[in-house]
Amino acid sequence: SRSIRLAVIPGDGIGPEVVAEGLKVLDAVAPAHDLKFERTTYDLGAARWHRTGETLPDAVLEELRGQDAILLGAVGDPSVPSGVLERGLLLRARFELDHYVNLRPVKLFPGMDTPLSGVKPEDVDMVVVREGTEGPYAGVGGVLRKGTPQEIATQESVNTAYGVERVVRYAFEVAASRPRRKLTLVHKDNVLTFAGDLYQRTVKRVGEEYPQVTTDYVHVDAATMFFVTMPQRFDVIVTDNLFGDIITDLGAAIAGGIGLAASGNVNPDRTAPSMFEPVHGSAPDIAGQGKADPTATILSVAMLLDHIGAPEAARRVERAVADDLAARRGRPARGTAEIGDAIAERVSG
Ligand code: NAD
Ligand code: IPM
Ligand code: MN
Repeated sequence: SRSIRLAVIPGDGIGPEVVAEGLKVLDAVAPAHDLKFERTTYDLGAARWHRTGETLPDAVLEELRGQDAILLGAVGDPSVPSGVLERGLLLRARFELDHYVNLRPVKLFPGMDTPLSGVKPEDVDMVVVREGTEGPYAGVGGVLRKGTPQEIATQESVNTAYGVERVVRYAFEVAASRPRRKLTLVHKDNVLTFAGDLYQRTVKRVGEEYPQVTTDYVHVDAATMFFVTMPQRFDVIVTDNLFGDIITDLGAAIAGGIGLAASGNVNPDRTAPSMFEPVHGSAPDIAGQGKADPTATILSVAMLLDHIGAPEAARRVERAVADDLAARRGRPARGTAEIGDAIAERVSG
């Protein structure tokens, strides 16, 4: 059997609760596909920070580099100043491991409720390719005269030709592999003229290598409207780090809820392990109550399986999730572990 080194970072809030169910499903699917996961769990997040002041120590980062993949729950806690863990742990991992593609499918499963009226599952089926290492997330900027009426806070968006080209190229590959072969650039080039223009020119130039892919452009504000009024106009979207963050929470909302939205922080060149995690956060409002939906994490496990070259195992997990979702209609709500048990059972059965 094939052995895979898997780093597990349960993190904060509902993170450990949903990761436990993701691992339950992974354990259920692995044997039939001859996979063996050697797991190492990393105690990172709020508790570690309170204890030692560390977020992602260099030594841990080096250990992570030696793994084949990473499964992460969520980070962030009300007891820690906002940004300490988000930047120091999550974004540091994404940047250091060069996760330049943040892959976020938005897909409405049959039978799922959506706040949109009259949409069919085939109307909501897109992939958002969110840039993962640049843009306003770069951390460039600072504050002057803090706390005074003259305070000035700047937060620059960093966009490199190299960084934009590689994510755009990846998005074209995804678009070329899908039946509709359509790629939409989502940006704000009427205001963010420098970065928007770089994205525009890059899509045009790289697009010459993909004549089979149709391209178009939508401003991000209009995109949020079309997500709600005409989601079928999107197939693959390529976008900036921050716009991608925002539109994928909206994507989650139209595709059955934040509890279902999966993601992969992908290093396509495989110079470091990729990291899979639900789109949602640590949900402090429901943490510890056993009511978080683990489905997003389980679908992230399916993305992880795809990434490590086990597509049959991935499809099996997705089928089990689709069946479980179809069976949810009209039934009483279940807890985190019940949902995990049900999906794990379908996977092994
Ligand atoms: P959130 O996603 O944690 O929660 C938003 C709302 O969605 C809450 O009402 C929550 O209860 C609900 N929700 C989220 N996941 C759910 C699930 N699996 N099942 C059912 N309901 C679910 O976003 P937030 O409240 O903006 O942020 C909370 C904390 O998480 C902050 O510290 C933030 O920085 C952090 N965060 C981390 C990540 C990550 O680790 N990738 C992502 C987003 C937010
Ligand atoms: C996400 C989160 C993160 C992001 C935060 C917690 C840094 O919102 O994964 O969507 O903005 O990327
Ligand atoms: Mn987000």
